Amino acid sequence: MAKKVLIDTDPGIDDSMAILTAFNSPELEIVGLTTVFGNSVIENCTANALRLVELARRPDVPVASGAGRPMVVDAELIAAPVHGEDGMGNTHLPAPQGQPVGMTAAEFIVKTVLENPGEITLAPLGPLTNIALALMLEPKIAGLVKEVVLMGGAATVPGNISPVAEANIFHDAHAAERVFGADWPVVMVGLDVTTRVMMTPAFFDSIFKADTPYTRLLQKMLPVYQGFHHDFYGMNGSVHTHDPSTITYLLRPDFFQTEEWPVHVETTGRCAGFTIADRARQWGDRRPARVCVGVDAVAELGLLHERLTRY
Ligand code: BDR
Ligand code: CA
Repeated sequence: MAKKVLIDTDPGIDDSMAILTAFNSPELEIVGLTTVFGNSVIENCTANALRLVELARRPDVPVASGAGRPMVVDAELIAAPVHGEDGMGNTHLPAPQGQPVGMTAAEFIVKTVLENPGEITLAPLGPLTNIALALMLEPKIAGLVKEVVLMGGAATVPGNISPVAEANIFHDAHAAERVFGADWPVVMVGLDVTTRVMMTPAFFDSIFKADTPYTRLLQKMLPVYQGFHHDFYGMNGSVHTHDPSTITYLLRPDFFQTEEWPVHVETTGRCAGFTIADRARQWGDRRPARVCVGVDAVAELGLLHERLTRY
């Protein structure tokens, strides 16, 4: 039976790749997309999510619009150089046909989890604001969610938005601290693995040959993302594989090596957003997260290539 997955997302160029991969994977049933600020303002992220369900020919999949700002402090939004002003690589696509559903992302998450006890995997690909708000709205969901498989954090490697913080966690560190502190199974797909999987120009050239509506969108969005990776890391057209790695984990957890570590999130000061793995359990008995620390990059890229070229 297909795994029921609710994707919380801030599309986002790599979010788009992740979402299209998920829709092309019969092992997954996408029960909804909820949107959050992050890679762009919430209005753009919601419009982009609607565009993506339409591109995937799945306009029946509900999109619920969520948080437009962090729970407590306003983190500076500096994603335009990474994902473009519109969040989709400055493609400025036509407006979507559909509308978001008439409830907030947090309400939609709670409703979906309560209606499907023990069955829903949450896959957050952006700041964790909606997930934390859902937990506050209905704490019971912690015991009813199957798993939270999130893209975010850095346990053994440096950050990307600051020397210590990964962007999704940094954009709402208070929300992330609530999510890692709750009594539910969390899998952290962080920079420890996502920066080890490089999509190269040769990988993309090969994907573009498929010439589908998916690959054509990817081809249009990509230059902004490649430009950022080159300016910041000198990657010559290659990019890290962040959000798609979360979907890979859902499909093939056996591609990843993991450790069971409690994770705490620093919420203040210049280390805000730092995900600290308490390997020796010195900070009490918080439920450990499953932290991805290694990945079979070749296997992952093979899977993504196959899924992104299907249509
Ligand atoms: C994360 O930040 C965003 O730019 C990406 O979409 C990804 O979710 C990587 O740090
Ligand atoms: Ca994202």
